[in-house]
Amino acid sequence: MHFMEVVANRFSCKKYDGSRPVEPEKLRAVLEAGRLAPTAKNLQEQHVYVVQSPEELAKIDSVTPCRYGAPTCLVVTYDKNHVFTYPGGQRDSGVEDAAIVATHMLLASANAGLDSCWVNFFDPEKVKEALALSESEEVVMILDLGYGAAGTKPLANHASRKPLSETVSYR
Ligand SMILES: Cc1cc2nc3c(=O)[nH]c(=O)nc-3n(C[C@H](O)[C@H](O)[C@H](O)COP(=O)(O)O)c2cc1C
Repeated sequence: MHFMEVVANRFSCKKYDGSRPVEPEKLRAVLEAGRLAPTAKNLQEQHVYVVQSPEELAKIDSVTPCRYGAPTCLVVTYDKNHVFTYPGGQRDSGVEDAAIVATHMLLASANAGLDSCWVNFFDPEKVKEALALSESEEVVMILDLGYGAAGTKPLANHASRKPLSETVSYR
């Protein structure tokens, strides 16, 4: 698929076929796309947890209603002790870097023919506790991965994007 087709065809999948696992080679391609993502000062402070066992997936279900039966969840975190602090001292690269890694993986999933959903509907502290993450790790997002259940289609809002004239200005 061409890049713009991948971008246009990706949608947030909210019902998965739990009996159809993600093939290891596809998962590997998704993780590799995340690995190749740029990060500020190339710090690579992200970490990706691949959650697939029934016990660990149950922990995801205990912190969010948005797994939707996905057989794989990628939990993307960053180490807050290894971020780049921008001039002014008020902002750092942690969330951005992890979000870029996650976006690479989101698009690589679509490219591999997988369905996915970016999930943020959770209390990050509860995720940290459920997955026994270290104190310095911040949870940025969970990426549901799998194959949509039969008949799963994009929600109506997928086709509803503002025109460039509303979101872009030339100066
Ligand atoms: C930052 C972010 C957080 C999101 N969090 C959730 C979520 O917690 N649960 C969910 O079902 N969808 C979530 N979504 C999916 C959005 O609702 C979805 O991307 C949006 O409605 C557009 O639909 P589309 O992805 O099908 O084009 C999130 C998307 C983004 C980008």
